[in-house]
Order: sequence, then C-alpha cells, then structure tokens
Amino acid sequence: MTAAVKVDIARLSAELEELAGFTDSPAPSVTRILFTATDRAAREFFKQCCRETGLLIREDAVGNIFGRWVGSDPQASAVGTGSHTDAIPNSGRYDGTVGVFGGLEAIRALRAAGHQPRRSIELLMFTAEEPTRYGIGCLGSRLLSGTLSPAAATALRDGSGTSLDEARAECGFRGDLATVALPAGYYETFVELHIEQGPLLEKEGLAIGIVEAIAAPASMRVVFHGQGGHAGTVMMPDRRDALLGAAELALAVDRAARATGSPSTVGTVGVMQPFPGAINSIPSRCTIEIDVRDTALEPRDAAVEEILSGARAIAERRGLTVGIQMLNADPPATCGTAVVEAVARASAQLGIPSRRMVSRAYHDSLFMARVCPTGMIFIPCRDGVSHRPDEYSSPEEIRRGVEVLALTLAELSE
Ligand code: GLV
Ligand code: MN
Ligand code: MN
Repeated sequence: MTAAVKVDIARLSAELEELAGFTDSPAPSVTRILFTATDRAAREFFKQCCRETGLLIREDAVGNIFGRWVGSDPQASAVGTGSHTDAIPNSGRYDGTVGVFGGLEAIRALRAAGHQPRRSIELLMFTAEEPTRYGIGCLGSRLLSGTLSPAAATALRDGSGTSLDEARAECGFRGDLATVALPAGYYETFVELHIEQGPLLEKEGLAIGIVEAIAAPASMRVVFHGQGGHAGTVMMPDRRDALLGAAELALAVDRAARATGSPSTVGTVGVMQPFPGAINSIPSRCTIEIDVRDTALEPRDAAVEEILSGARAIAERRGLTVGIQMLNADPPATCGTAVVEAVARASAQLGIPSRRMVSRAYHDSLFMARVCPTGMIFIPCRDGVSHRPDEYSSPEEIRRGVEVLALTLAELSE
C-alpha cells in the first residue's frame, strides 16, 4: 500500500444507521431474526450497497452472501472478510454489522487509494450467526466450513416447527445444502472486524484488539416434564412442578460455572419456558437453554458434565422426567499467525495502540478458522456492553477499525 487509505466514516455511519432501521423492536433496540422480513430487508440493502461498489455477488443455498472484488489473479485463493447482520432480540446496532459494512468500507477505501489486489477480496454476510431462530449459532459458517452436515441442518426446526428448508425456500434459497461447504483452498485467509463486546480495550485506552484465540461455547436444551394441574386445588405434597426443576437447574448452572477453578468459565440460562404459562396452572413442562463457555476445553466440559448430572439428579428428586439435547459443543479456535501478524503490522503502521487478546464471544471466525488461517480485529465498545440496545462504538473507533482492516486486507491480498 502506498497511498493512504481514507475511510468515509460519514457514509459508513449513515449505512449503519439505515441498517438499524430494519428491526422488529423499537429503536434504539434492534431485533433482526433469520429470514424474517427485516432480515430480508437488511440482505437487500447489503446487496444493493455491494452492487453500487461493483462487487460480484453470489448467494449460497443457506443465504450466505458473498461480494467479490476480483483480483488481478482471479484463480488465486481469495482473502475473505465479513460478519453478520442478524441480531438477537432487544440487542444493539453494532454487533456484526460493523464487520459487514466496515468490510465494505475497507474495500471502497482500498479502491479509492488505487489498490489493486492480486488475490480477490471477498466480503461475506453470514447467515444467522445468532442462534435465535434455530437454536444453533453460526449456521452459515458451520455449513461453509463443513462443521454442520447438510442432514443435521435439514433436521433443524424453529420454535413453531418450521424447518430450515421451508424457511430458506420462502426466501428463494432452494439449492442443495451440500453445495454450501467451501472447496479446499477457496480462501487463503479470513479476517473479521467486530466490536469487542467486553471492557478491556476501553479500560486500557486502546483502539484495537488483535484476537489470538476464540473461546469454546457449548449449549444445551433441557426439558423437564412433570404434572400440570390447578394452582388452587393441587396441594403441595402432590405436586410435580416442572418449572421448579428448571429453576433448581438454573442455580446449578451458576454454581457449576463458578466452581471449575477457571476464572474464564461462564454459564448462562437465557431461556426458560414453562408450559402452559398461565398464572393459575402448575407448569407441566419447562424448557431451559444453557450456554457454557471457556477459553479452555477442560473446565468448560467439566461444568457441562456437572450441569447434566445435576439435571438428572434434580429430576429424580422431584419426580420429573428430563430430556437433554446437546445443541453444540465446539472446541476453541486458535487464530492464524499470518493474519494475527498482518493485523499487528497494520495497527503499528497506522500508529494505533493495540493489544493481543482472546475473544470470549463466539463469531463466524470460530468456524472460518477451520477453513483457512483466520484472525479478528476488535474495536472498543462503551462500557463493554453488547447484546443490549445501548451497545455503542463511536464513529472514530469504527473508523480506526476499518483502517486497520483495510491495511490488513491490502497485505493479505498481495
Ligand atoms: C455471539 O453472539 C455470542 O453469543 O457469542
Ligand atoms: Mn451477538
Ligand atoms: Mn457478533
């Protein structure tokens, strides 16, 4: 790179603003669930912006969108970048979106600076990084990396029983899911720009996080079955309340995550659904969904084991039956040295203070790391807040992230 890259932060901010308008919850919150009308609107908006930039667009059978800036050596493996635009219920406007539209802005800035990549640079908008609709995160990148089999994807059903195949067909994605997995050598490297979703960069006054590893998430769905009945007439000794089993298990999750001896273990119950959900009816069934993570596999798996045996013991004691479904248990990813060092060089070249760190959130990069050497660029977010409507990164913070991404892409595409 000779000429300096100039990021048009006003244009990028306007795009992020427009994107935030596609939501199923009132501003400032954002809710954008896979294959809903809002998700489709965001997809159309992204494709229109890619077209205006002159990128070659393709979509695969699960709706991953690719916008390619063809390099001078079109046969060479490409450099990938991108992230997601889907958003969990009541979240913010920066998670994922900064990597998608920031990736586009990085490409535009490189173009404007007269950069001609040798390798093609391909921008991705991954399908459903968030697990909201089908209970499994990184759906698009799992399929791209061959981590999720087409048969397992076809078996997925959402909360109202709609299959992934039905939902994607409604959006025009009818191809065979087996065609989604990338052929060997498709990408040379992959790099994702993302907000940190934690407090370290802000606390330390640093503008860039160079991610070296991504934590390992495991998630499970546990369903307790008991006996329903009238809230007034079934006396306490006669009850088999399914919600109480779930409540006890939620406390056991908290205990298990605190007891591994690793300060990095975290456990969360974000879903608890009693049935039938009426104030004067004893819950006959209760579903809870549990998320456990660590940067190391051993303490994470120890917590998971503790939780699962806890679920069986609670059911036994309370006269309930229990069904356990492991939704995923993914190993952590180590970032590729070539990408990590390219990000470090780009930050240094721009004189931007940075640090190396791990990602405690998961990302599509967790699965792209199985495809090719992969890295991530983090930027600060206010108070480390994410998955909340008050999530915020300033235009200046985003601008610096995009600059580092642009320089990284320039080096990797040479
Ligand atoms: C991704 O959104 C995560 O839950 O880490
Ligand atoms: Mn998220
Ligand atoms: Mn994200």
